[in-house]
Amino acid sequence: MRPLEFTGGILSLIDQTKLPLKKKIVKCRTYEETAKAIKDMIVRGAPAIGVTAAYGIAIGAAAIKTISNEEFFKKLELICQTLRNTRPTAVNLFWAIDRVYQKAFRNKELSVKDIKQIITDEAYLIEKEDIETNKKIGIAGNEIIQANWTILTHCNAGALATTEYGTALSVIRFAHWAGKNIQVFADETRPYLQGARLTAWELQQDHIPVTLICDNMAGCFMKQGLIHCVIVGADRIALNGDTANKIGTYSVAVLAKENNIPFYVAAPFSTIDLKTETGEQIPIEERKPEEVTHIQGIRIAPEGIKVRNPAFDVTPACYITGIITERGILYPPYQESLFHAEAQRMQRL
Ligand code: MRU
Repeated sequence: MRPLEFTGGILSLIDQTKLPLKKKIVKCRTYEETAKAIKDMIVRGAPAIGVTAAYGIAIGAAAIKTISNEEFFKKLELICQTLRNTRPTAVNLFWAIDRVYQKAFRNKELSVKDIKQIITDEAYLIEKEDIETNKKIGIAGNEIIQANWTILTHCNAGALATTEYGTALSVIRFAHWAGKNIQVFADETRPYLQGARLTAWELQQDHIPVTLICDNMAGCFMKQGLIHCVIVGADRIALNGDTANKIGTYSVAVLAKENNIPFYVAAPFSTIDLKTETGEQIPIEERKPEEVTHIQGIRIAPEGIKVRNPAFDVTPACYITGIITERGILYPPYQESLFHAEAQRMQRL
């Protein structure tokens, strides 16, 4: 399952606001349309919005009509800024934009035509690497999954949130493919219902046994001994391991600790923000009140009610058993294990 495809200079996205009832494709032909698709959550999930933004830059750059490098870079900066201003929490967005911009800038002496090609190639590379990364996360995470386990997940950290396989759902997929007879409990994930609409659908498509529950049921099932492990994705991981993920993740983590259930975060290194020391510094997106007062366009709360709608929360590192990455599983203290993994990578380069 692939949520996005870039061909002929056009980015085609599965409209995730319509799933699972309709499979509609949205085509982005300009960088403004691409930015809107991210903001409106037609595409969502940290790695997927990073890849989308990279293609947004490629689309925007291709449309710049100049042969002057100075003018080209001025316009390129505007494109990058527009894409940056879409969603504030998932660091993969900024990571991908910076990576593409810097690649272009390192080649600023070339012709505008060649720089445009370099930008498109870099976006393709980010997508290709994401697929490989998710596979590695799945393989690494599979090691900790025991036969006949029931795994709880929150939100959608699946193929739809990445370019293929997913992060948390990649672990689940690899355990399923290994014949471990696992099953999944999917939190519905109010208010946007990524669990009910996307995770439940995605796993069902792959014939992985899945049971949908309301968010407030998780604790009850944990207490009954029905959950053996929790695996979630991440939008931004601070240096100390504090992790921003979909609102409600923190409550699940606290419940897991109380019930002695291992709680894992699955994420690529591009989700680790080396510039952010603790979770307190992570910007949390606040979305519109209608997502809380309405379900699928139908009002469920009184007119004029005051609403709060933070899209993410931060789970302190002390609740996280391990972080499953493409470079293996990191354990606390996270600052140390992160630096160690980074040092090993530098050595290999
Ligand atoms: O608001 P969303 O749907 O973009 O939030 C998505 C999540 O919180 C995911 O868990 C996270 O991005 C990881 S996706 C592999």
